[in-house]
Amino acid sequence: MTTASPVTEGSRITVCEVGPRDGFQNEKTFIPTAKKIEIANALFASGLRHMQVTSFVSPRAVPQLADAEEVLAGIDRPEGAWVTALVPNLRGAERAATCKLDAVHTVVSASETHNLKNVNRPVEQSLEEMAAVFEVLKAAGIGVEGGMATAFGCPFEGVVPPEQVARIARRYQELGADSVSLGDTTGMATPQTVRAAIRAIREAAPGLEIHLHFHNTRGVGLACVMTGLAEGVTHYDAAVGGLGGCPFAAGATGNICTEDLVYLLQESGYETGVDLDALIGAARLTQGQIGRPLPGQVLKAGPRLKRHDPKLTVTAAG
Ligand code: COA
Ligand code: ZN
Repeated sequence: MTTASPVTEGSRITVCEVGPRDGFQNEKTFIPTAKKIEIANALFASGLRHMQVTSFVSPRAVPQLADAEEVLAGIDRPEGAWVTALVPNLRGAERAATCKLDAVHTVVSASETHNLKNVNRPVEQSLEEMAAVFEVLKAAGIGVEGGMATAFGCPFEGVVPPEQVARIARRYQELGADSVSLGDTTGMATPQTVRAAIRAIREAAPGLEIHLHFHNTRGVGLACVMTGLAEGVTHYDAAVGGLGGCPFAAGATGNICTEDLVYLLQESGYETGVDLDALIGAARLTQGQIGRPLPGQVLKAGPRLKRHDPKLTVTAAG
């Protein structure tokens, strides 16, 4: 059994903001390009440095992200920024290669039915196309994070065995991926399945960096992060305000919330480089644009030591 040491307190944890991609893709009303750029810039200004900004997908499949090139051209890139975008196929890789990107997040599902729904082709066909995708991206000097959807369960097929996840991770490693990202598309991950998937990958693809991408559909997203930390994983995706969800997966809801994740990590003694108050400000800006309350909890409650004026709370008088 291949195990790793837990991440020790004081370590730097990478929080990758995916709201502008995973979050916006699930919004029906078009968010103006300038607003997308403003939100991404506010997120960078809070100290976040890793961001998945958009997708190079079919504008018919996801009209919300049809402005990928314009958004990427418009955002600020603070010192140390690491900007990524999602790519499902060769056409997407060719578009990405014309943009300023540090890395691309490719996508294939661990389950056959979700891959058919999401990218309209069998898993094996997606993997075969990856060779050309990697070639185009490498030639453009763009890194590759091998994304895997439904890695902890599929809303159409149920259980996804860790061996299947490990097999795809191994294919990504052979293609030359810098990392593999395990996506919990509909929040089916549990601490037990997270541990099993990580250990199976370490066995099958030793040395391949693992990233974790949880959705909070069943309320255990942050518990899964704690398991990831115990297993030595230092990279987590999250979406501002808890936005997110795949339009092609039944029952998909938001990612784990960036403010809640940053709060948990900071209160647990990890370094994130993020100013939580500024991040809450960026979440408010996002919520204002979306026009409905977002699920994030720290957005509502504020940081732990936020002080309330006693004069503004009623006193119980018997
Ligand atoms: N960007 C822009 N347009 C694209 C494209 C891309 N990456 N890939 C394909 N297209 C266009 C083609 O040019 C073609 O256009 P045309 O009809 O005007 O000639 C059309 O889309 C159909 O191409 P085809 O290769 O047959 O695609 P498809 O219909 O089998 O769809 C995907 C495949 C991958 C493009 C589509 O399923 C998709 O975009 N999925 C993304 C899903 C997603 O974002 N999920 C959430 C994130 S996990
Ligand atoms: Zn997701």
